[in-house]
Amino acid sequence: MVHSTITPAIFYWGTPVVLITTRNLDGTSNIAPNSSVFWLGNRCMLGLAECSQTTANLLREKECVLNLPSDDMIPQVNALARTTGSEEVPSFKIMLGYHYDKDKFRTTGLTPMKSELVRADRIKECPVQMEAELAGCYEMMSSLPGEAKGFTLAIEVKVKRTYVEEKLRLPGHENRINPDAWRPMIMSFQHLYGLRNGDRETSTLADIEEELYRLPID
Ligand SMILES: Cc1cc2nc3c(=O)[nH]c(=O)nc-3n(C[C@H](O)[C@H](O)[C@H](O)COP(=O)(O)O)c2cc1C
Repeated sequence: MVHSTITPAIFYWGTPVVLITTRNLDGTSNIAPNSSVFWLGNRCMLGLAECSQTTANLLREKECVLNLPSDDMIPQVNALARTTGSEEVPSFKIMLGYHYDKDKFRTTGLTPMKSELVRADRIKECPVQMEAELAGCYEMMSSLPGEAKGFTLAIEVKVKRTYVEEKLRLPGHENRINPDAWRPMIMSFQHLYGLRNGDRETSTLADIEEELYRLPID
């Protein structure tokens, strides 16, 4: 194996796409695709540009819905690309070709669905929906100079209620997902992929009983 040194502008090696819904000041719901995301226990860490409408909504309302699209929802995610719910489009987004979109449900044809524990709507077409509350916020890249400082936030949210499409559940289990049925959409270097073929290799990690990971509810 021959390695060479490179300096990538982005390090998007492949993470699932989440459609975050948050409540706007006027009571409507905004949708934003996000792929800077990881999960630990019932917590999710989101990497968000500070200037996004989602960030403003999430910090103000202290809640959101994490909607997971399946890999056949690429047209809807593409319709959301380069849009923002911010009426005043930040200059760096103008430079990247973004425009203001007041009603992203209408733009995508997705259907809003009332949530139970939060005020932002869920997205009906997403097979997984998680209502969540703000748990923490950390300023990333604080050592950067000038405008770049404070540009990105790592926001922790706590999942309060999870809804899954029936066919994703593992038969015989109350609280488990069938990984063979779940097809997340993956973003790798700005391109969108699915796991359509569904072939999997044996994973030693998967020998661990899932319930052993359950943390005390707080
Ligand atoms: C597939 C995809 C993944 C994205 N991932 C992120 C991300 O991880 N973090 C982020 O800040 N923006 C990400 N974006 C860009 C945001 O969606 C963009 O900033 C958008 O304007 C946010 O909408 P809002 O301003 O209405 O909140 C992504 C966009 C797409 C299409």
